[in-house]
Amino acid sequence: MGRLAGKVAIITGAGRGIGRAMARRFAAEGAKVAVTSFTHENAVSLARELNEAHGGHTALAIRCDVGEEADIAQAVAHTAEVFGTIDIVCNNAFELASAAKSVLGTSEADFNRQMITGPLAALRMMQAVYPFMEGRDGRILNFGSAAAIEGTMGMAPYNMAKEAIRGLTRTAAREWGDKRITVNALMPVALTESFQNALDQGLAQVAPSPVPRMGDLDKDIVPVALFLVSPEAGYVTGYSWFADGGLKMDAGR
Ligand SMILES: NC(=O)c1ccc[n+]([C@@H]2O[C@H](COP(=O)([O-])OP(=O)(O)OC[C@H]3O[C@@H](n4cnc5c(N)ncnc54)[C@H](O)[C@@H]3O)[C@@H](O)[C@H]2O)c1
Repeated sequence: MGRLAGKVAIITGAGRGIGRAMARRFAAEGAKVAVTSFTHENAVSLARELNEAHGGHTALAIRCDVGEEADIAQAVAHTAEVFGTIDIVCNNAFELASAAKSVLGTSEADFNRQMITGPLAALRMMQAVYPFMEGRDGRILNFGSAAAIEGTMGMAPYNMAKEAIRGLTRTAAREWGDKRITVNALMPVALTESFQNALDQGLAQVAPSPVPRMGDLDKDIVPVALFLVSPEAGYVTGYSWFADGGLKMDAGR
C-alpha cells in the first residue's frame, strides 16, 4: 500500500516543476490528486497521464488561477464533490516576476500581485479546506524561499510574499495544532523552469551549498514534501523545511 493510500490531495500550480513532480509521486503513493493549474491544458494532460498510470479515478484536472478567489473556492468544491473529502493541500503555485524588482522599483501593483497570488491565495485555500480537515489529520504544505530569507536583491515583492507565507504557516500551525491539522513550509532548491528563467534574467544565482549540486525534483525535493503530507508527520508542524543541500543551514537552526 502506498504512503498516501486513501488520501485526497490538492496541488496548486501542478502543471510543471515541483507541483507536477509532487502530483506524480503522490498518485504513485495511492493518493487521489486534484491537479490544479493556471493553464487548463497542462492540468488535463497531467491528469490523463496519472489516470492512465494508476487507474481512471486517480486524478482530476482543474483550471485554477490562485489569484482568483472564485477559482480557489471552485477547486475545493469540485475536488470534494468528486473525491469526497480533502486531506492534503500543497500551496505550490507562484508567479514569476517578469523583471527584477528592487525595493525602489517595486510598484503597488507588483506588491499586490505577489501578495494576492502568494500569501492571500494560501490563506484562502487554507480557509476553504479547513472544514474538511478539522479533526481528520489534515496536512498543509506551503512554499517559502531561501531567497526571501537572504533578502536577495531585485526580488523585493517575491521576498515579501514568501516571508508572509511563512508567518501564515506558523500561525495556522499554532491555531490548528489541536485540530489535527499540520502546517509546514518547504524551502526547495531545484533547477526548474522558473529557476532557469530567474538565472537567465540574472535574478538568481546558483550559490555553492555543502552538497555541491542542484536539487533533483524526484530524488531531493518531492521525498521531503511526501513525508510532510504523509500520516507519519502528525507531530511535525510550523517548521520551514530546507531541501537545499545545506545552503541555508544557519536559517534552519
Ligand atoms: N525551484 C526552486 O529552486 C525554488 C526555490 C525557492 C522556492 N520555490 C518555490 O517552489 C514552488 C514551485 O516552484 P517551481 O520551481 O516548481 O516553479 P514553476 O514556475 O516551475 O512552477 C510554478 C507553477 O505555478 C504556476 N502558476 C503561476 N501563476 C499561477 C497562478 N496565478 N495560479 C495558478 N498557478 C500559477 C505556474 O504556471 C507553474 O506551474 C514555488 O512556490 C516557488 O516559489 C522554488
